[in-house]
Amino acid sequence: MSDFHGLAARLIRMLEPETAHQATIAALKTGLGPWDLSKADPILSTTLCGMPLMSPVGLAAGFDKNAEVPLAMLRAGFGFVECGTVTPLPQAGNPRPRLFRLDADRAVINRMGFNNEGLEAFAARLQALPAKRSGPVGANIGANKDASDRLADYAVGLKRVFDLCDYVTVNISSPNTPGLRALQSKDALAELAGRLSEVREERRAATGRNPPLFVKVAPDLDDDEIIVLTETALSFGIDGLIVSNTTLARPDTLSSDQRGEAGGLSGAPLMTPSTRVLGAFHAAAQGRLTLIGAGGIASGADAYAKIRAGASAVQLYSAMVYEGPGLVPRVARELAERLRADGFTSVAQAVGAG
Ligand SMILES: Cc1cc2nc3c(=O)[nH]c(=O)nc-3n(C[C@H](O)[C@H](O)[C@H](O)COP(=O)(O)O)c2cc1C
Repeated sequence: MSDFHGLAARLIRMLEPETAHQATIAALKTGLGPWDLSKADPILSTTLCGMPLMSPVGLAAGFDKNAEVPLAMLRAGFGFVECGTVTPLPQAGNPRPRLFRLDADRAVINRMGFNNEGLEAFAARLQALPAKRSGPVGANIGANKDASDRLADYAVGLKRVFDLCDYVTVNISSPNTPGLRALQSKDALAELAGRLSEVREERRAATGRNPPLFVKVAPDLDDDEIIVLTETALSFGIDGLIVSNTTLARPDTLSSDQRGEAGGLSGAPLMTPSTRVLGAFHAAAQGRLTLIGAGGIASGADAYAKIRAGASAVQLYSAMVYEGPGLVPRVARELAERLRADGFTSVAQAVGAG
């Protein structure tokens, strides 16, 4: 089976990157797939803000922007799947090419710019999902590029997906929508979080549900910004932070010709800096916020490093560009081995251990 995956991943890699992605989604949508790996090693079962997970290894946002294949990705072995980023109105995103593989660096640069089919198509697909699924499905919400009131876009998104998903992520860290990252500043985040708290309270009263609300942050933050973000998130009842989105930095180590492309860098070169920022959030939060680690995970050792730095769960995307979904069970197996080797009997025991 892994030969099958390896071959499929090699064939897909021969295509132009965005065409390859479209082909992958189309293949997954057929429902064909020789595997059902949604049963993980019991040592990996854990919880994330009260949501039971079979594995702490989730799919990061951006792979399934339109919520087309969350069940297929759970079957591929992810413990949870984040769909989106979705914006209220459909939007084309930036002109192609806008997705670049940096093969020699095991990295990706993207400047997709929130291309997506919009909230109604997204919500209809979430609505059609079976209530019983093998892991949580989250909705990652954003703002349209031309929105006159960006904060209102987030409020509209939260309201629409609230009843339809298991958690919601507020994406204020994409580098590809001009000005979006400014929402990470104290006053802007306080205003946004205040608006979202009102929506949340209203929907909670109406539905009796209260799915966790996460904020996804950039890796390009200094220690002061990390402290301010942490305290602001806490004061508005945000449940957790996803650390991190892609980076605007271009490490000196990059050797691929495409390293100069504009956009966010992800994959292997993001592993160390994003884990450092995750550790800083862990120190700032002192256990008061749940953290989800993302950025450069390609192995169980990488996932384990994020957990030890303070992540209760992790997400990955770019490594799949190189290895295909067959990498997911490998990462899970290696993570289980690492936990056992260090004498842990659960993921939760290792959170923040190192
Ligand atoms: C092609 C591509 C598209 C992405 N789109 C989104 C997105 O729409 N929303 C979002 O929050 N993050 C998006 N991301 C960021 C990922 O979710 C993740 O945070 C980041 O890539 C770091 O993880 P990785 O190194 O495992 O890819 C995207 C990443 C890539 C490579």
